[in-house]
Amino acid sequence: MKNGLAIMTSGGDSAGMNPAVKCCVEYAIKQGFRPFLVYDGLRGLIDDHIVEADRERCSGILHRGGTILRSSRSKRFYDIEFRRQAYQNLEQKGIGQLIVIGGDGSFRALNQFYADFEVPFAGIPATIDNDIPGTDYCLGVDTALNMIRQSVDSIRDTATSFSRAFVIEVMGRHCGYLAMVSALSSGAEICLIPEIPYDLDLIGARLMDEKKNGRAYVLAIVAEGTRMSEHLTRWLSDSLNMDARLTVLGHVQRGGSPTVHDRIMAYKFAVAAVDSLREGNPNAIMTFREGSFGSVPIETVTSSKYNIDPALLKLCAPLSS
Ligand code: F6P
Repeated sequence: MKNGLAIMTSGGDSAGMNPAVKCCVEYAIKQGFRPFLVYDGLRGLIDDHIVEADRERCSGILHRGGTILRSSRSKRFYDIEFRRQAYQNLEQKGIGQLIVIGGDGSFRALNQFYADFEVPFAGIPATIDNDIPGTDYCLGVDTALNMIRQSVDSIRDTATSFSRAFVIEVMGRHCGYLAMVSALSSGAEICLIPEIPYDLDLIGARLMDEKKNGRAYVLAIVAEGTRMSEHLTRWLSDSLNMDARLTVLGHVQRGGSPTVHDRIMAYKFAVAAVDSLREGNPNAIMTFREGSFGSVPIETVTSSKYNIDPALLKLCAPLSS
């Protein structure tokens, strides 16, 4: 067996990737592997941006947001000839397994690579969207939620000062998890996410009542996947007769030093990933489910859809009507 183990980050960066890289390297050495680092994600795999890991490269990275390995979304990796080139790079260095820290798109790419060349891999879920089937948690979510909370708290200050309505659009791609948890934890009056049908007439009637009872400002948190932010802002102005503003939080949500939670989760996912490869699993994805760490076969991730916890959806539903 080739004992080279390469670690890479791929797709949208998220806080927690760096502690995961550091722990993968340190724990892999203890388990008898020879760790390598792939820079620039899938692009780096093809272009041979692969170096042996040493202490210097992995020191002082634990507290840093983003990924020191950098990331990419490579179209070339769809082409077998480029994947062959990537395989040859690994072969030359004696790398026989990979850990990929990223989202389901990256896992699919690595599974295709496994199908082509039988290079086993372990996946560590990392995306602020928290939309990977089979796991309740993905690295970076807690940090992103805290970034959003901080922004919403600041917006509330100005919203109350000017008696305004604010629509705050958060990321998540097609998933409403970030918006839902942010709305609940910030006490927003409105939350629109793709998973819950909304009724603007009912929201309007509720808020008009509240306005009569002294409500002076409104906070609405909207998932980008609904594409409703601009419409809702206009609607708040027209229907509730309020001065309304839209804030699109954007990429600020992806940055920031990983929270304690993301650092600890990163360590545990990293240990699980190295152990999974040591035990001979060819293509497992690490999971955190109902309080326990485990793994699922890649097919679980590729063949199913992430469903938000129904209990959380129930709590959030009154904010959509
Ligand atoms: O998947 C993470 C994510 O931040 C999504 O929430 C967002 O829709 C997308 O990536 C943004 O992509 P990009 O960084 O390419 O603009």
